[in-house]
Amino acid sequence: MSRKALIAANWKMYKTPAEAKAFVDAFLPLVAGHTRDAIALFPSPVLLPAVTAACNASSVAVGAQNIHFAEEGAYTGETSIIQLKAVGGTHTLIGHSERRQYFAETDEIVNKKLHTALKHGIVPIVCIGEVLEEREAGRTATVLKTQVSGAFAGITPEAAAPIVIAYEPVWAIGTGKTATPEIAADAHGIIRAEVAKLLGAEVAAAMRILYGGSVKPDNATALISQEEIDGALVGGASLKPDSFAAIVKY
Ligand code: 13P
Repeated sequence: MSRKALIAANWKMYKTPAEAKAFVDAFLPLVAGHTRDAIALFPSPVLLPAVTAACNASSVAVGAQNIHFAEEGAYTGETSIIQLKAVGGTHTLIGHSERRQYFAETDEIVNKKLHTALKHGIVPIVCIGEVLEEREAGRTATVLKTQVSGAFAGITPEAAAPIVIAYEPVWAIGTGKTATPEIAADAHGIIRAEVAKLLGAEVAAAMRILYGGSVKPDNATALISQEEIDGALVGGASLKPDSFAAIVKY
């Protein structure tokens, strides 16, 4: 089964609207005509209107780094999926490890957000991954399976097609330490087997599983060319147009 790779930029809490627009203006010519992979940008909510407008005539998708599970309500500081759609966003990250670590997001919250995204036709990228202590204690497989089954509670095979998973080992995020292609492929295999158990072999075979954690132009090819790795979720190296374009063209 061939899965079209998705190369995604998580800009985290970086860039102003003007800087975001300058990025897109420089980036689009670098990837013009590139159809082998899908491309998506995930800026902060305040940048979304500028980035969706700048990407409007291109095939580059734009999404949120986080959404609330409620469609609207008294949730100060949050962004709703309806607001995301209204400014042209089509994707969202869910359960990034920084959300889990600093904002107490649990598998239960991730699950609620996943249901909201699917209900509204937004492509969800569900982020999972073990921390260093879990890996060192030999608990990686258990942690990944728990995160997948928690996120997917109540999701039917019929509804699951848009879902993308990003495997981001927390010890590799922003540290310059990358999982070797073999370590990453092994984790992806565990994740895909769990998806198959929950939703069937066909859904699992079609689901894209991205790798994230210190992906750079010089390691992207080795990672993404693994059969089990269907693209990348890139933090630091996605902030510069030339470096992100080089990853897109791995
Ligand atoms: P880095 O690429 O900076 O390690 O960040 C990875 C990440 O968190 C992407 O979501």
